[in-house]
Amino acid sequence: MTLAPNSLQARDIAYTVHPYTNLRQHEQQGPLVITGGKGIYVTDDDGKDYIEGLAGLWCTSLGFSEKRLVEAARRQMERMPYTHTFAGRSSEPVIELAEKLIGIAPAPIRKAYFVNSGSEAIDTAIKLIWYYQNARGLPQKKKIIARQRAYHGITLAGGHLTASLAYTSSGFDLPMMDRFRHVTAPSYYRYGLEGESEAQFVDRLADELEQLILAEGPETVAAFFAEPVQGAGGVIVPPKGYFEKVQAILKKYDVLFVADEVICGFGRTGNWWGCNTFDIAPDLVTCAKQLSSAYLPIAGLLMSDAFYQVLADQSANLGTLGVGYTYGGHPVAAAVALETLKIYESDHTIEHVQAVAPRFLERLRRLESHPLVGEARGVGLIGGIEIVKDKATKEQFDQQLKANAQVVAKCLAHGLILRPLPGDTIGICPPLIISEQEIDLLFDRLEAGLDDALGVMPMAA
Ligand SMILES: Cc1ncc(COP(=O)(O)O)c(C=O)c1O
Repeated sequence: MTLAPNSLQARDIAYTVHPYTNLRQHEQQGPLVITGGKGIYVTDDDGKDYIEGLAGLWCTSLGFSEKRLVEAARRQMERMPYTHTFAGRSSEPVIELAEKLIGIAPAPIRKAYFVNSGSEAIDTAIKLIWYYQNARGLPQKKKIIARQRAYHGITLAGGHLTASLAYTSSGFDLPMMDRFRHVTAPSYYRYGLEGESEAQFVDRLADELEQLILAEGPETVAAFFAEPVQGAGGVIVPPKGYFEKVQAILKKYDVLFVADEVICGFGRTGNWWGCNTFDIAPDLVTCAKQLSSAYLPIAGLLMSDAFYQVLADQSANLGTLGVGYTYGGHPVAAAVALETLKIYESDHTIEHVQAVAPRFLERLRRLESHPLVGEARGVGLIGGIEIVKDKATKEQFDQQLKANAQVVAKCLAHGLILRPLPGDTIGICPPLIISEQEIDLLFDRLEAGLDDALGVMPMAA
């Protein structure tokens, strides 16, 4: 590859380090430089348009040209560009945003704490859970359970929850803390046993969770973290009844439920929260991404009053609640998030998702007739397909082949951006503003990409 020395590509290679990237490969291939966006489309520096089939990183719910968010940021920057939230300092956008969020939050959530990213929200949740258990006089109660293939960010603590995804932990000496455990991910397609019904699968997973808590000792288990739909681990939609059984067990052993709504929050599953879709009553909620349609970084850790009261007493005992980030509760990001929530209401975004989701899910499920697709699963406007070599046996391709990445590359050539995920899956998660016609176009392009990939894949005989 020869690049003009002054091209954006050459300068990116010269100066930039990219996350989740094979850096040597990147030196050869260079970046895809996105220079513009309109609605559900983004444009590269060659002027080629793509459907953003993953809404960036599951986040740009309102697409790429929402002027009201630009205006909200400009207004707040002019008025008061920065203040913090340490030591009781506050700002109007933070107060209004907290009030609005609590107004729509799933019961029994009553308070909001702001940070800058999903990872920070998760990390803070872990710290505050330990603080909470110490405050309750239960210093042994510190272990946290997550699911295999969970994605809860990659800070050192949160990385322990995500650790079953090898690429996030290998090379980083994780795990280094013996406080984290994992149970099976609720993918009936992949982990259901021969002859096991879906209901039996749910019972088995519930039993696995209970046995783990008992084996560890309930007095040592503090919390369970779960994405309502597991996103970055391969879009795993839980079977019916799964969360009902899980919650009953957690209650029995005084284990907190942390709902990681970083992807699901704000309409993705067809309701305000994944918690609404799956009847979850969480003690804590993490949210980010669609909170501001990703126009500025902001995330929230929402908590029940019962949890808050313990923190408040302990902060009085110790003299302070010793957490906080310089930019947490940034007034400009809060103003943009507040405007985002107002747009969801004024533009009836959740109702729109409910209206177009049947088309999305119908086109998604149709993919199951494609020879490369073992399962197509989804809810609301989030979907995933699992690529297999043999549909009858569910056998997967050799992982070295990176079959899903090959499909994604073919889709890119057809003007559709998607993302390969663990378990040879592909995530589909367009901006929530997508129309039915655009859904059709997205799936037409995805089908074309699958057909192209089929031509080059070593299928089972
Ligand atoms: C469910 C979930 N939690 C947490 C995170 C981490 O968020 P961030 O990348 O903003 O740190 C992500 C990121 O994709 C996520 O999907």
